Amino acid sequence: MDKLPGKNQSFWSTTAQAMSYPQLDEDIEIDTAVIGGGISGILTAYFLAKEGQSVALLEARELVSGTTGGTTAKLSSQHQLIYDDLLQQDGLDVAKLYYEANQEGQKLIKAIIDDHGIDCDYKVADSYVFSENIENTSSIEKEAEAYEKIGIEGGIADSIPVDLKVTSALVMKKQAQFNPVKFLYAVLKEVDSLGGRIYQHTRYMDSEKNGDQLILSTDTPFTVTCNQVVFATLFPAEDPDSFYSDTLKPVASHLTAFESPEAFDSGIYISDDDPIRTFRGALNGDQCVLIIGGETHPKGDGKSTIEHYEAIQHYAKEEFRLTEFLGYWSEHDHTTPDRRPFIGKIQTDNDKMYVMTGYGKWGLAASATGAGIIKSLIVGEDNRFEKLFSPERQLPEDKGDRNESNETDENHVVSPGSEQMERQLAKGQAQSVEINGKPAGMYKDTDGNMHYLDLSCTHLGCEVKWNDGDQTWDCPCHGSTFDGTGKVLAGPAKEPLRTIDSLQ
Ligand code: FES
Repeated sequence: MDKLPGKNQSFWSTTAQAMSYPQLDEDIEIDTAVIGGGISGILTAYFLAKEGQSVALLEARELVSGTTGGTTAKLSSQHQLIYDDLLQQDGLDVAKLYYEANQEGQKLIKAIIDDHGIDCDYKVADSYVFSENIENTSSIEKEAEAYEKIGIEGGIADSIPVDLKVTSALVMKKQAQFNPVKFLYAVLKEVDSLGGRIYQHTRYMDSEKNGDQLILSTDTPFTVTCNQVVFATLFPAEDPDSFYSDTLKPVASHLTAFESPEAFDSGIYISDDDPIRTFRGALNGDQCVLIIGGETHPKGDGKSTIEHYEAIQHYAKEEFRLTEFLGYWSEHDHTTPDRRPFIGKIQTDNDKMYVMTGYGKWGLAASATGAGIIKSLIVGEDNRFEKLFSPERQLPEDKGDRNESNETDENHVVSPGSEQMERQLAKGQAQSVEINGKPAGMYKDTDGNMHYLDLSCTHLGCEVKWNDGDQTWDCPCHGSTFDGTGKVLAGPAKEPLRTIDSLQ
């Protein structure tokens, strides 16, 4: 398939000038190293720097280029339908604390915005979950009952402020939306002014103990010596006893942006339907924009992602009469067995390594609370949300199979053929083939050069699948992403896909 029209780039990244920070260019020694330049890592670095710690923030690619820069950027405690599940699974106290943790995260973000006068299009808005399918009415009603038990401000809504034929809807009052890229670029400046060191294009590779300290190696010639390290990456860069490989499941959603004559700023929205639809208004200068997404699926399932984008485009045209397509992008995250993120010590009794992961696509408010938890753990304060998100908590039995699948999919594994197969491949696209029973891939770059790859993921060997919409190789097991030539875009893999000479 050919590429879609429009930019394959998050809308948010087009609204602010990218910030430039250096690669690590010397050995350094600091109190705390934070790995991962998304909202979790940046806020953790900020809170620790405010406590007087010396911190270094290391990002393998560009800051705010991963999941944080690709969300719908809703600051909401309404995580589609979750509270009835939490009540059934964990009881009232946990469900209430989960709500409070997310409300607290919103407050922390608003306080930073106010303290530093950050212009990031922050706006209070009611949050709605709706359905266009009568069969979903009872699940929305159950969630409304959970709101009442927990004391959440909101409940069943007779209508939503958007012209859609909804059959039921639930509102959570006074949530918010913002521009995460503008917000975090401003916070990075604060980290910088507090003496924090910030590095891009610096990938964490490994660590070794040196007395009470850790020496972190990177993909540069230089090291970071520190007292503790925080892994604020999509998937933790260390995985003791395979706990995170066994419990985190990668999911992908797809987002689009359209020019819009309307502001759509009276609310933020997500459906309880299949496929999911999520949308909110945004601004690019004076231009109103509608961000619409959904189509959530297990990452790396091998289905055509172009078809997901086209389904969203069709929805935008049918429901909102929008056709001025600005761009499209994917959002990747991991879910946990109990729908709560893992934030805390990476493993019991390890007070040198901390982790923040598994936000289940609802990580903006929770990451601020999480950054507060990590700061408390490191400086030795109590934090009332510590146990709620601790990776040490008791987990329910895993509710499903990992994404691994050997089913035939739309990656069309075929036997290697001739030059004809290579000629037929569009630039920027790839094809899975099989050589001696092993999966291999061929990718034609935008200059027309061919690249041949071993499709065994360099993390633990699962077969990566081609994502035609975003032109990446995605791993179904733990969510690593590689570009067409095999370069790592997102871990846990640290090494590129192996190249092979040719398909013959
Ligand atoms: Fe673990 Fe690919 S990310 S095997």
